[in-house]
Amino acid sequence: MAERKPYENIHVDNADGITTVTLNRPDKRNAMSPALDEEMLDCILKLEADPDTRVLILTGAGEAWSAGMDLKLYFRALEGNPAGRIKAEWTTHQWRWYRLYNFPKPTIAMVNGYCFGGAFTQLIACDIAIAADTARFGLSEINWGVIPGGLVSKVLSISMNYRDSMYYALSGESFGAADAERMGLVTKVVPAASLKHDVMKLAKHLSELNPEAVRATKQAVKTVRDMSMDQAHEYLMAKSGQLAYRDKENGYATGIKQFIDDKTFRPGLQPYTRKAPAKHGAA
Ligand code: COA
Repeated sequence: MAERKPYENIHVDNADGITTVTLNRPDKRNAMSPALDEEMLDCILKLEADPDTRVLILTGAGEAWSAGMDLKLYFRALEGNPAGRIKAEWTTHQWRWYRLYNFPKPTIAMVNGYCFGGAFTQLIACDIAIAADTARFGLSEINWGVIPGGLVSKVLSISMNYRDSMYYALSGESFGAADAERMGLVTKVVPAASLKHDVMKLAKHLSELNPEAVRATKQAVKTVRDMSMDQAHEYLMAKSGQLAYRDKENGYATGIKQFIDDKTFRPGLQPYTRKAPAKHGAA
C-alpha cells in the first residue's frame, strides 16, 4: 500500500485490495473538524492512485458513523476568520464530494451508527451504503437554526425523493435505518452484528471484478444522470470504446468466449473467470 503519514483523526486499514477508512473521533461522534477534513483529503487523494486499493469502505469509530460538521471547530471556531472558513469549506467539499463521488473505484458507506447533517454528503457520495439496523439518520440542521447547507440540500435529490427530502429537512425528525432503506438513502440494512462481515463480503466481490469494467460502469451511471438522452447515448458509445482501449485483460472477448464457445459460465448468474486479477491503480 502507498506510504502514508500518520493520521490523528482517521484510521486507515488495508487488506486484500480493500481499504477501510474510519473517521476516528468517537468521543465527538466523528464530527468533522477542519483537521479531520484535511486528513481525509490527503488520504483519499493517495488512495485514488493506490494499486492496493480496489474498493474503499468508509465507516466510523464507536457509536456514530458521523454526527456531521463539528459545530465547535468547523462553525464556531471559524467565525470571524473568513480565510480559515474558505479553506475549511474547500477542503471538506473536496474530499466529501468531488474526490469521493468521483473516486475511480467502488466505495461503500458502512453506516455503523448516527449519521446527521453534513454526513449525508459523503453518505450519498458513496456508491453503495449498507447500514446497521441500529443506525439513526437526520437532517438536524433545522434544529439548530440553519439550512442543510454545504452540498446537502443539493445531493439529497440523488437518493431521496422530493417529498421525503422536504419532510425530513423541514421537520428535523430523525429516522431509523429501515426508513433510510425505504427512501433509497441506503442500499440495504443488515443486523448490526453482521455489518462488518456483510460489507467485507460485498467488498471482496467487487474487488475481484474486472477493475476497468467497474470503473467505466460507475463513471457511466454517474455521468449520464445530468445528460440529455442524445448526449447520454453518444457518451456511452464513447465510454464503451474507451473501456475496450483501457481494458488490458480484454474482459469482453474473454466473457463472450467463456459463454458462447467454452460454455463455462452464465453472465446472468456470475462473472467470467479472470486469468490473474492484476493490481490496478487509477491511471
Ligand atoms: N459537532 C461537535 N461536537 C459534537 C457533534 C457535532 N456535530 N456531535 C457530537 N458532538 C460532541 C458533543 O458535543 C459531545 O462532546 P463533549 O463530550 O465534549 O461534551 C460528544 O460529541 C458526545 O455527544 P453527545 O451529544 O453527548 O452524544 P450522544 O450519543 O448522546 O448523542 C448525537 C449523539 C449525534 C445524537 C448528538 O451528539 C447530536 O445531536 N449531535 C449533533 C448532530 C448534528 O446536528 N449534526 C449536524 C451537523 S452539520
